[in-house]
Amino acid sequence: MGKTILDIQGLRKTYGQHEVLKGVDCMVQEGEVISIIGSSGSGKTTMLRCINMLEEFQGGKISLDGEEIGYHVDGNIRRRKNEKEIARQRALTGMAFQQFNLFPHMTAAENVMLGLVKVKKMSKADARAVAEKWLDRVGLAARANHYPGQLSGGQQQRVAIARAIAMTPRLMLFDEVTSALDPELVGEVLQVIKGLAADGMTMLLVTHEMRFAYEVSSRVIFMNQGVICEEGDPKDMFVRPKTERLAEFLKTSSFN
Ligand SMILES: Nc1ncnc2c1ncn2[C@@H]1O[C@H](COP(=O)(O)OP(=O)(O)O)[C@@H](O)[C@H]1O
Ligand SMILES: [Mg+2]
Repeated sequence: MGKTILDIQGLRKTYGQHEVLKGVDCMVQEGEVISIIGSSGSGKTTMLRCINMLEEFQGGKISLDGEEIGYHVDGNIRRRKNEKEIARQRALTGMAFQQFNLFPHMTAAENVMLGLVKVKKMSKADARAVAEKWLDRVGLAARANHYPGQLSGGQQQRVAIARAIAMTPRLMLFDEVTSALDPELVGEVLQVIKGLAADGMTMLLVTHEMRFAYEVSSRVIFMNQGVICEEGDPKDMFVRPKTERLAEFLKTSSFN
């Protein structure tokens, strides 16, 4: 068994009266590739956003590399860490979203360099070298000086992934990164994620690409109404679901 990277215990999140995460427990070991599946509204995005501290949460705890994320919890007393500490912890995870969120007035390389210079305090020359290395890794060496508007959706998403990975996160979070892409561009992005998985990057990915989840995941988590309803080896999950809910979900999904 590898080293535990992520340990989530009893995670609870509410929006007003609406409890969206109702006690999620999840452990992730170094090098695991975990796909999170489940119908719209089941809490997948919210879970990733809590891990990356883009959302506050009301109960439970999240530890990354043994460090408690976001809050000091001492018995019943829970205090949010200071913003500087939160910023440092946030940099331990990288996140890529359905929307690429690239800065339109910066080239691909400049988009990747930004965090390296601003957060990691690298010199521009060093940051450019790192950016070029990662753009090469995602197959965009020849596009380093192009602006987002000059790139296809698949290329923009690969820049966004390079930007996140260049920060050397301990854990990568992918939230439906192919959902906004034309079908013919999905494959090139999934190929990049496959390459990162093969390199041993630890990742949690929310996806509707069931065939992809089946092929690359070491484990699959099925979320339903704010809890993990079933989890396991992809072969068992997709071929022999244990719960009626998962069986129903798979009938309506793209896996067949
Ligand atoms: N900012 C928000 N304010 C209020 N409710 C929200 C907000 N974001 C998400 N929700 C609700 O939380 C639930 C889970 O959403 P989400 O995590 O986005 O699900 P998923 O990613 O699985 O589709 C949904 O019922 C959604 O409407
Ligand atoms: Mg979502």
